[in-house]
Parts: sequence; structure tokens; C-alpha cells
Amino acid sequence: MTTAFVAEAAAIHPQIGPEGANVRINDFNLWYGQKQALFDIALDIQRGLVTALIGPSGCGKSTLIRCLNRMNDLIDGIRIEGSMTLDGADIYGAGVDVIALRKRMGMVFQKPNPFPMSIYENVVYPLRVDGVRDRATLDATAERALKGAALWEEAKDRLKESALGLSGGQQQRLCIARAIASDPEVLLMDEPCSALDPIATSRIEELIDGLKGHYTIVIVTHNMQQAARVSDNTAFMYLGRLIEYGQTEAIFTTPKLERTQSYITGRFG
Ligand SMILES: Nc1ncnc2c1ncn2[C@@H]1O[C@H](COP(=O)(O)OP(=O)(O)OP(=O)(O)O)[C@@H](O)[C@H]1O
Ligand SMILES: [Mg+2]
Repeated sequence: MTTAFVAEAAAIHPQIGPEGANVRINDFNLWYGQKQALFDIALDIQRGLVTALIGPSGCGKSTLIRCLNRMNDLIDGIRIEGSMTLDGADIYGAGVDVIALRKRMGMVFQKPNPFPMSIYENVVYPLRVDGVRDRATLDATAERALKGAALWEEAKDRLKESALGLSGGQQQRLCIARAIASDPEVLLMDEPCSALDPIATSRIEELIDGLKGHYTIVIVTHNMQQAARVSDNTAFMYLGRLIEYGQTEAIFTTPKLERTQSYITGRFG
């Protein structure tokens, strides 16, 4: 699609508003050096639901999701304007404890990144960092998190083995277990299935379905079928802007904007 992009206000469907929002993004702008990557993003992410972020490569999905738990803090030359809040508290407020924030907002990446240690130690890692040493607490957390991540049956007899011996799909479920071990409110997933085969992917999708309600989930995906299957709400981004945001069914069946329609039907991107 080569038509010139004319920025206009995002089409936010009226079904989604600030009530029920766990995370609120307001007038959010971001620059990498001189280059602006996010423009005036306003997005209310609903508590306990799955929100999919879709849009062509380079449109700012990872940038936005990484801002939520301040993973971008480490990048030189970054500048932001606007606000993001979690339960009404400013994510970028003075005195925010970033480590504590990241525990409340767990993150799962594209490529599974288990640590080179045992399955058990991977899962209880967040508690170790906190200095928890009580064996019963660690054991209970490992079991709860592995069950939550639908890995317990496969892992319970090999907890002391290296996590690197797990399959890719198992490793990704282990990373989800590690993320939920600290009992976060929000789970951020950036293309969590893109390195997995279809069977491992469908296990992760089932898992996401089981986790919602308890957690607020934001998932970036390039797979339209996946967005349609797993999410309640979908936000479509293009060139650093939010274009349309609504209930997933409406976005996929009756989008308000031509550009959304073109993207979801595969005409560009
Ligand atoms: N660390 C960085 N420094 C400079 N520019 C960056 C950096 N990270 C991302 N960008 C730029 O910001 C824009 C948005 O990138 P981002 O990775 O957020 O896109 P994306 O939607 O996640 O893309 P993809 O679907 O390919 O993962 C792109 O133009 C990218 O080149
Ligand atoms: Mg990305």
C-alpha cells in the first residue's frame, strides 16, 4: 500500500473505556534519538482480559509493550512524553521501584530465554532474587507456577535437570512459569509463539486462555488467526500510531477503518 499516510484520530470503539482499565496509556510519544517511534498513543487495557497488539513490522508494538514495564529505560537516547499508569499509579513517576514494577508486569519474549540453571531454579528465580530461602515456600511456588503454565506434568520428575534440555515450546512455558512465579497482575508477551511449531503454539494459546481472568494479558502477534483466537480486544497500530481499537470480533468482522480492514485481510503488512 503506497497511499500517503494521513494521521487522524484513532478509531476507539465505544465498548472500551476507562472503566475496567488496569493499564492506561495517555498521549504517549517516544523518540529514539531524533526519530519518533510512537505518536500520541492512548489506550485503555482492560483488567483480566487479553489485548492483542497487531500491525506491520516496525509500527512500534515492541516499543510500546516494552515501555509498560520500563524495559526501554536501558536504551540510550530515548525520550518519552505522556503517561502510562498501572492501577492509577504513574509507571514513570518519581520514585517508582522499577524492579518491583517488573514483578507486577511480567514479560515473555519472542525467543524463550530460560537461564542456564535447573528447571526448578528458573521458576523460583524471582523469589531467590528477593532472598526467599524457605524450602516449602519455594517448592509451593514452583509447583503453582509450573501448573499455571501447564508444564507441571512434563517437568515434575525432572525439576533438577537443566532448563536448556527442554523443547522450545516447553522452554516458553517455563518462561511463562517464571513470569507468573512472582504473581504479577499483568503479563506482557511479545510474539511468544513465533519461534514455536503449531502444536506448541496451540498449547501456549490454551494456556493464555486459562490465565486470563487472573492476569491482564497483552500479546503482540503477527498472526491474525492467533489474535482472533486468543484476544478479547485488539489494537491495530501503524507507523507508530494507534489506528483502531475495539473488541476483537468487531475489529475482525466490522472494522471502522479501511486501513484496518486492509491489514487484517492481508492486503499489506
Ligand atoms: N533501540 C532502538 N533504537 C532505535 N530505533 C529503534 C530501536 N528499537 C526500535 N526502533 C525503531 O522503532 C520503530 C518501531 O520498532 P518496534 O521494534 O517497536 O516495531 P514492531 O512493531 O515491534 O516491529 P516487529 O513486528 O518487526 O517486531 C522501528 O522503526 C524501529 O526501527
Ligand atoms: Mg516487535
